[in-house]
Amino acid sequence: MAGHGGASEQPCLIDQLAREKVPMKVIYGNVTELLLAGVDTISSTLAWSLYELAQHPGLQEKVHQELVAALGDGCDPEATTLGRAPLLRAVVKETLRLYPVIPANARVVPDRDIRVGDYLVPRQTLVTLCHFATSRDGRVFPAPDSFQPERWLRGDAARHPFASLPFGVGKRSCVGRRLAELEIHMALAQILLRFQVRPEPGGHCIRPMTRTLLVPEATVNLQFLDR
Ligand code: HEM
Repeated sequence: MAGHGGASEQPCLIDQLAREKVPMKVIYGNVTELLLAGVDTISSTLAWSLYELAQHPGLQEKVHQELVAALGDGCDPEATTLGRAPLLRAVVKETLRLYPVIPANARVVPDRDIRVGDYLVPRQTLVTLCHFATSRDGRVFPAPDSFQPERWLRGDAARHPFASLPFGVGKRSCVGRRLAELEIHMALAQILLRFQVRPEPGGHCIRPMTRTLLVPEATVNLQFLDR
């Protein structure tokens, strides 16, 4: 959503929708939903990514070197720069594995019984999936509680493709996924190129807790030192 701005600027999303004669009530509903779905999700993932990078200075250095190399002669990262930063993208995947901001998901089995492995699920059953649990399952992710983004760079044929599903799957999966990933990758790149991120001196280990969304149980305090 762009700002207000003059005639030469791109109109903001609401102007665009109003021009298309979408009723105001529908616009309010959709914008509210986008803000609800798109604000805490991004900020929480960004905070956890920075927290983990601060705890792992060697890894942070590798990501910084990767970004400097990907940037080449450019000054600011662009979407194409991120394509040359697989470790940075793995950091976000690993963050969402350990801290899936939406920790559980649910579906109602529709109009017929279905068989899933050894289970028969009767129709009209509510099935809840806790991906916080599946993405920390040691049978799929060795050393499941430790932050190891490199695991995503090694092809692992044995890993179940649905073991970590932070954005859900299928028709009703997260519609904002690409935008979210781009925002988080870009924000991390900008921050890591300018600052060295360190944990707060004397800070404690911060654990996640659920408050509908998965959030840090304490404030994440970090130091940002100019590079
Ligand atoms: C790290 C960031 C995000 C995560 C982890 C995330 C995760 C999810 C998950 C798990 C779902 C439910 C998927 C399902 O039921 O299978 C969902 C749905 C949704 N997300 Fe996201 N999301 C993120 C960011 C965003 C952003 C930035 C937007 C919008 C700009 C957004 C908009 C939506 C919407 C509208 C839905 C409902 C889709 C539907 O019901 O068809 N999300 N998201």
